[in-house]
Parts: sequence; C-alpha cells; structure tokens
Amino acid sequence: NCIAVYPGTFDPLTNGHVSLVRRAAKVFGAIIVAVAGDSHKTPLFSLDERVAIAEAVFDHDASVMVEGFNGLLVDYVRRRRANVILRGMRAISDFEFEFQMALMNRKLDRSIETVFIMTDYKWLYISSTIVKEVCKHGGEIRGMVPELVRERMREKYGL
Ligand code: ACO
Repeated sequence: NCIAVYPGTFDPLTNGHVSLVRRAAKVFGAIIVAVAGDSHKTPLFSLDERVAIAEAVFDHDASVMVEGFNGLLVDYVRRRRANVILRGMRAISDFEFEFQMALMNRKLDRSIETVFIMTDYKWLYISSTIVKEVCKHGGEIRGMVPELVRERMREKYGL
C-alpha cells in the first residue's frame, strides 16, 4: 500500500501526465499529484488554477489525490508519510535533469526513492511548453491536453 508522490509544475497538465498517473495508479496504493508552487519555471497558470484543474481532471480516480505544495519536495513527501517520488521519463533528453533531481532528493533524504515510469509513446512529443507555444499561436491542441485544460488555455490567450 505504497503512496507515491507525483510532483510537477503541471503548467498545464497534459494527457502525458494524465496517462502516467493512471498507469501508476495500478502499481501504487495511492498517488498524490503534488503541484509545485516553487519550481524553476514561471508558470502561465497560478498555483490555485493548476491545483483546481488537476482536481477536476482526477475527480473520478479514487486513488488519486491532488494537492499544492511549497518548499522542498522531500519535506512535502515526509509530511504526507509517502516514500516514493514518481516521475515520468520521455526520452534520453529528460535523463540528465531527472538524474540530477533524483540524486539531489536522495542526498536530502535517503529514505525516499524516486521511481520512473516510461511515458507511453503516444505522448513522447508532448511537453507543457510545446503545447503552450502551439496554443498561443492559435494551433489546435485538442487530444494533447484534457478538454478542460484546452478551454482554460484558450481563455488565457484570449482565443
Ligand atoms: N508525458 C509527456 N510529457 C511529460 C510527461 C509525460 N508523461 N511527464 C512530464 N512531461 C513533461 C511536462 O509536460 C513538462 O514539460 P515542460 O518542461 O515543457 O514544462 C516536463 O516534462 C516536466 O514538467 P513537469 O512534469 O511539470 O515537472 P517539473 O520538471 O516542472 O517539476 C519539480 C519539477 C518536481 C516541481 C521540482 O522543481 C521540485 O521538486 N520543486 C520543489 C523544490 C525542490 O524540492 N527542489 C529541489 C529538488 S531538485 C530540483 O528542483 C531541480
């Protein structure tokens, strides 16, 4: 009955994230989607907006919980009494950053393990940044993000 924390900026949540959470839900007892207030990115959506979107998307997934957090990820994981950090891995290009982050988190707390799940090939080309770029210029992003995300993004960009 292992609890896995799936952290990210989720700006915005994409179908790649959703697919990963649903696959991981078959492996772990519970998943906490942890939306970061402090990430290395400057987000389009506020923390409250990103949390509300994820809550709506995972509303019917019984073992999935959504929460925003600030500060260090390992502190949040300890507060939630979880012992796994879950991350998705798309391509080799993700490896260096993920490796660095996993090692840093391990240095900060050796009792927490980072577990990677390979992203389904269908979402290999997707990232939050590329979806924002396409949407901003009026491109169609249907099928790449949940419908709710698509609507919110079009509002943000005044489309
Ligand atoms: N399918 C498709 N795309 C995916 C998938 C998937 N399954 N998983 C991730 N991606 C993409 C995302 O769309 C996103 O794209 P983008 O870079 O264009 O935005 C990218 O991969 C990764 O973004 P997120 O999944 O949102 O996660 P992110 O890397 O932003 O999360 C985190 C970083 C975990 C929030 C980190 O900054 C953190 O832990 N912050 C808290 C502070 C802390 O503890 N820092 C010390 C830890 S080390 C460190 O922070 C570097």
